[in-house]
Amino acid sequence: MVHRRTQVAIVGAGPAGLLLGALLACHDIDAVIVEQRSAEYVLGRIRAGVLEQTTVDLLREAGVADRCLKEGLTHDGIELSFDGALHRIDFRALTGKHVTVYGQTEVTHDLMQLRAGGNLITDYEAEDVQIEGFDGEHPVVHYVKNGVVQELACDFIAGCDGYHGICRASVPRDAISTYEKVYPFGWLGILADVPPCDHELIYANHERGFALASMRSATRSRYYVQAPLDADLADWPDERIWDELAVRLGPQVAAKLERAPAIEKSLAPLRSFVAEPMRWGRLFLAGDAAHIVPPTGAKGLNLAASDVRFLAEGLIDACRTGAMDGLDGYSRRALARVWKAERFSWWFTSLIHRVPETGAFGRRMQVAELDYIRTSQAAQTTLAENYVGLPLD
Ligand code: APR
Ligand code: PHB
Repeated sequence: MVHRRTQVAIVGAGPAGLLLGALLACHDIDAVIVEQRSAEYVLGRIRAGVLEQTTVDLLREAGVADRCLKEGLTHDGIELSFDGALHRIDFRALTGKHVTVYGQTEVTHDLMQLRAGGNLITDYEAEDVQIEGFDGEHPVVHYVKNGVVQELACDFIAGCDGYHGICRASVPRDAISTYEKVYPFGWLGILADVPPCDHELIYANHERGFALASMRSATRSRYYVQAPLDADLADWPDERIWDELAVRLGPQVAAKLERAPAIEKSLAPLRSFVAEPMRWGRLFLAGDAAHIVPPTGAKGLNLAASDVRFLAEGLIDACRTGAMDGLDGYSRRALARVWKAERFSWWFTSLIHRVPETGAFGRRMQVAELDYIRTSQAAQTTLAENYVGLPLD
């Protein structure tokens, strides 16, 4: 058995865990990341790619923003497509802010490089990860690496192990409340090496269902169509997806839609989920381990980043001076922002999808709300300020 000690044990090397590790390293706090998958697997996951300004600022603070600032695409607005026309929401005019399109894969890659360059320890392919002792003074992370049992003693555990991780599941059931909404449809996504059909993202509400035109770069596009939860990918050859996109995005956009074979294709369910509190003793949850949003509005990664900022502040104080107030306030502070992003993601999802379950009245409410957004600057500002990201209070 190998015994080791660190100040902060981070479970999970997704964006939340890696970013936390980077921020702690900047302040000379010792941290070890324990990840059950391989680095290649973590990098291979395709996720959203819209960064709020506060997220880019945090990457800069962590010393990993160079490539994002150079290669990221600045977007000053989005297009909403409904009723046969495009309606632009001008973020810059309405809020003075923009978002940056830069894939999560790239963010993960940059953070991994930083860890490798700084000789920071990440134990990939850790098996049978378990945590204990976090309700007292001496938390420990146990796992097996290359057949050898590892025991990592620490002062604090950061549970950054995603929705299916073991950290949230290790808290006594009656100590955590969970809130959940599962949506009756999924997103069928396609990634292809073609230039984007527009220079901004297009969110379309069409009678055949929602569609989203997004991108990763000037030469790589990401598209989604709303699809039944039980859709079989075998029934969705590339051409069917392109045809559906052309119809749902409308003729004006279809004229610029370039087609190519899919590099990746997947069906993702949509879920809203919050667990609270985000702390139990010396265990702190961050990112998807504590909450999930549906992808409409691209808040997942940005919320993970704001959690991590609040948590890093508390951990740095606690490790340096023993002061616990930052950590004591962590859950309340993080959840205040989480719930607002949950509200926005839920609202935007309900607005822009076709949801037969809500009946004819529900559809009329959608039409009225879309028309309100089209005609009211106040309504557009509300959408814009949530999309670009609420302040970090
Ligand atoms: N032990 C160690 N690692 C684990 C365990 C475990 N028992 N269970 C899960 N993990 C790892 C996963 O393999 C994954 O690499 O934890 C990591 C969690 O990463 P994400 O699921 O990406 O979650 P998070 O870092 O919170 O990301 C937040 O990025 O990935 C998106 O949809 C996500 O947008 C959200 C944001
Ligand atoms: C994406 O590019 O994958 C993306 C963009 C915006 C969203 C969701 C996903 O709202």
